[in-house]
Amino acid sequence: MITEPSHLDNPISEGLNNRVAGEPVQAAITYEKIPTHIYADAKDASRAVAREIADLIREKQGAGKPCVLGLATGSSPKTVYAELIRIHREEGLSFRNVVTFNLDEYYPMEPDSLQSYVRFMKEQLFDHVDIPEGNYNIPDGTVRVDKVADFCRAYEARIESYGGLDFQLLGIGGNGHIGFNEPGSLINSHTRLMMLDHSTRAAASMDFGSLARTPRKAITMGVASILAAKRVVLLAWGERKAPVIRGAVEGTVTEHNPASYLQTHPNALFVIDEAAASELTRMKTPWLVDQVVWDNKMIKKAVTHLSLTLGKPILKLTDRDYNDNGVSDLLAQYGQAYDINIDVFNQLQHTITGWPGGKPNADDTNRPERALPAQKRCLIFSPHPDDDIISMGGTFQRLADQGHEVHVAYQTSGNIAVADDEALRFADYVVDFNDKFGIDSPEATRIFRDAAAFLRTKKDSEMDTDEVRYIKGLIRKGEAKSTCRFVGIPVDNAHFLNMPFYETGKVEKKPLSEEDIKVVMNLIEEVKPHQIYAAGDLADPHGTHKVCLDAIIEAVRRLKHKNFMKDCWVWLYRGAWAEWDIHEIEMAVPMSPDQVMRKRLGIFKHQSQKDGVVYQGTDSREFWQRAEERNRATAGLYDRLGLAEYEAMEAFVRWKF
Ligand code: F6R
Repeated sequence: MITEPSHLDNPISEGLNNRVAGEPVQAAITYEKIPTHIYADAKDASRAVAREIADLIREKQGAGKPCVLGLATGSSPKTVYAELIRIHREEGLSFRNVVTFNLDEYYPMEPDSLQSYVRFMKEQLFDHVDIPEGNYNIPDGTVRVDKVADFCRAYEARIESYGGLDFQLLGIGGNGHIGFNEPGSLINSHTRLMMLDHSTRAAASMDFGSLARTPRKAITMGVASILAAKRVVLLAWGERKAPVIRGAVEGTVTEHNPASYLQTHPNALFVIDEAAASELTRMKTPWLVDQVVWDNKMIKKAVTHLSLTLGKPILKLTDRDYNDNGVSDLLAQYGQAYDINIDVFNQLQHTITGWPGGKPNADDTNRPERALPAQKRCLIFSPHPDDDIISMGGTFQRLADQGHEVHVAYQTSGNIAVADDEALRFADYVVDFNDKFGIDSPEATRIFRDAAAFLRTKKDSEMDTDEVRYIKGLIRKGEAKSTCRFVGIPVDNAHFLNMPFYETGKVEKKPLSEEDIKVVMNLIEEVKPHQIYAAGDLADPHGTHKVCLDAIIEAVRRLKHKNFMKDCWVWLYRGAWAEWDIHEIEMAVPMSPDQVMRKRLGIFKHQSQKDGVVYQGTDSREFWQRAEERNRATAGLYDRLGLAEYEAMEAFVRWKF
């Protein structure tokens, strides 16, 4: 039995989408085995989840009962906690009757450590609401190893003593883990000590500074303990979660994807954003689920999908191919495959250009960019100091070579991604440099000595001193300047914005402030660009790209009434993690083998990010490898669709503001 919740309002999609107005409603086919609500973004989704929790707390208050919540840590629930705090402050929601049990804690772990879940929960929720101190429970990472089993039994008994969990909030690991029930965990598993999966440790190493410093174990509530909750809501944001969400929601129940066990729960709900939903059948191939509106984008999506799935170039698709593969509806509207094929083929053809700034003296009717003005001012926003070259190095080079006035705005200093010994090496270099050239600078020597002393005794994830952070930022600044020289633009056109939200010295960043938006606005006003390039990559694991994009979007919105903005087009590129879907691409800039090699050399200028980086995450490839593989894959898609075969391609989507 599946119970639909009543509290979660206004998801953009609950299983039926793009229904044709006025058409008879056909029963939609669902491939989903867990109720799933999809929201435009994590904020909207979190508001709905927080509302359900708040309603439950109030309902229990009304009945004079405690409200027993199972809580999760990680990045996903933060927005839910922030909304609960808002409801507490602005709507007077009290947490005095709330009792909480957290899913897990690293082992071993001191409660006041930077990475402990005790600290996390206090910072994200408990310190901001009126929950009584004895009412929250978090597995104890300091229990002696021979006492862990007893501790786990007592933890479950304590949950039972409250009559079980009324509500369990979950995130999901990239490998499908819930709590720290890694793949292989059994459906009847209880609270226990668990060895962490390599991918989990790699993702967590972002917080611990390195894999070596990341714990190998955690205490986690078991799958059975989670399934015993009366209600379970799982959150997932971002496209990195899309494959595992598809497996959990549409696949079979398997220990290889522990979140799939939720298919057996009578009252579970997945609340996810569009990006995390992107692999679900209703999003990927909506025509297989329900009637759709065959607008241009949908046609492109269906035809490219058909072509790639059948391994047939677009121009070779037949009526039969359409009919046999669930796209007969489109055929019925168009008449024959031949017309649709040519139409989509031409659209794709028109996205390809070797002239990203527009081709002078050419008919631009079917080109992605305008021919005029022939010489454009282009402003590339690069969230970190190397995103420009990694994500759009080929296009950057072409813009410079084709005579446009190219500026790059490096939005953040990127200082946290520089290794300690690099900082020391550079400080030492300055001292030696001064010495060699007879420059008397006791201050440089002091800075070097202080930095050396600090770094010698620096504890795990201890924040760097301001001076060490500045040194690290300067290293990345030097690398970015070096890339600009390599591409051939004046170094004066490199603008280092040092956006304040980034400067926390930690992985966790501050929210976007007015000051951040102003910095971006000022530069746009100064350059008055005809083209803005921005990172539309929302899958960045640190979240920095998203904040950088938010700042640009807000700045553009505020400036759009200005005259110069009428001539300004905004192109979005993707960062190192993912590429646009083929049907979304509006400009594809091809690269020859030589251009690919040149881009690689440009990326090599970022030496501090080579040969293993501080925040490597789950992808062990270096940035140049990720970029090349991705750009080759995009070219490969065009090739398989039957268009010209290029070595590599960079792809862009236009944001029409
Ligand atoms: C956290 C937990 C984990 C996380 C999961 C997703 O208490 O139990 O299962 O929910 O690793 O983490 P984020 O939300 O950071 O992607």
